[in-house]
Amino acid sequence: MKKWFAVIGDPIEHSKSPAMHNAWFEEMSIDATYIPIHVSSEQLESAVAGLKTLGASGWNVTIPHKTAIIPYLDELDELAQKMGAVNTVVRTTNGKLKGFNTDGVGFVRSLEEAVGSSHKDKPVLLVGAGGAARGIAFAMQQQGYNDLTITNRTVANAQAIVDEMGIGRAISLKEAEETLAEFSIIVQMTSAGLATGNFSMPFSLNRLEKGAIVADIVYNPLMTPFLQAAEEKGATIVTGLGMFVHQGAISFEHWLGNYPNTNSMIAQLKAQLGGN
Ligand code: ATR
Repeated sequence: MKKWFAVIGDPIEHSKSPAMHNAWFEEMSIDATYIPIHVSSEQLESAVAGLKTLGASGWNVTIPHKTAIIPYLDELDELAQKMGAVNTVVRTTNGKLKGFNTDGVGFVRSLEEAVGSSHKDKPVLLVGAGGAARGIAFAMQQQGYNDLTITNRTVANAQAIVDEMGIGRAISLKEAEETLAEFSIIVQMTSAGLATGNFSMPFSLNRLEKGAIVADIVYNPLMTPFLQAAEEKGATIVTGLGMFVHQGAISFEHWLGNYPNTNSMIAQLKAQLGGN
């Protein structure tokens, strides 16, 4: 029987996940489909029951349900448990719903695809301490990055993640700006300006080292002001597109057992988003 998958969220119409997964199904001759479903917060519990009854093999969860869905699942993967957020649900062979979080590991894969995996002992500056930042901090720790500093507008939020991880330190944006030259990898994870479309810089990159690696988790636009400023300083830049494609590919692997072709997907989406 044809398998079906979904992404639930509010809003959902701009999600690029359906086009990505359906393209992979077609490319790999898998008899399956993936649909976007608009689910409001009030509908979440009944939507999960509906997805289960109607036989979805799995689904993605996006804003604003990543944390709220947890009580409706039967099991959580260790990383999702630590993060307190789920972006992927798998219906296991015994019919249970298991939650995973592929965002953070997707980011690490994208980073390592771009710059290799030899930077695990280098000082990393994580900028931001919201939901997305939390996921990336835990995933980087799990993947062996051991010199993590988190900077955030509200330092207490950064400190809370550091306390939970049991490693690293939290600093202010001002201190980050002043000590920027000490960091080899810098990851922009704030939503500064995202809602208004007027992207702003959390701090200036004047002191950035020329050889630094600078990543942003935003992929639309591909070149955020943060990445533009980093590129002008001679840094190696990593856009958010690889993270988006790899988080989807890891979900796909959880559902179907094999890893889809991420390179051609990244190239296709890059062309759509105006990159070259
Ligand atoms: P997400 O799920 O995308 O991570 P979030 O949980 O709302 O979104 O987190 C937003 C992050 O962006 C936080 O780190 C926030 O800083 P605070 O903890 O101080 O709120 C950061 N942020 C949002 N707007 C910002 C701005 N204008 N300048 C600097 N940081 C900003």
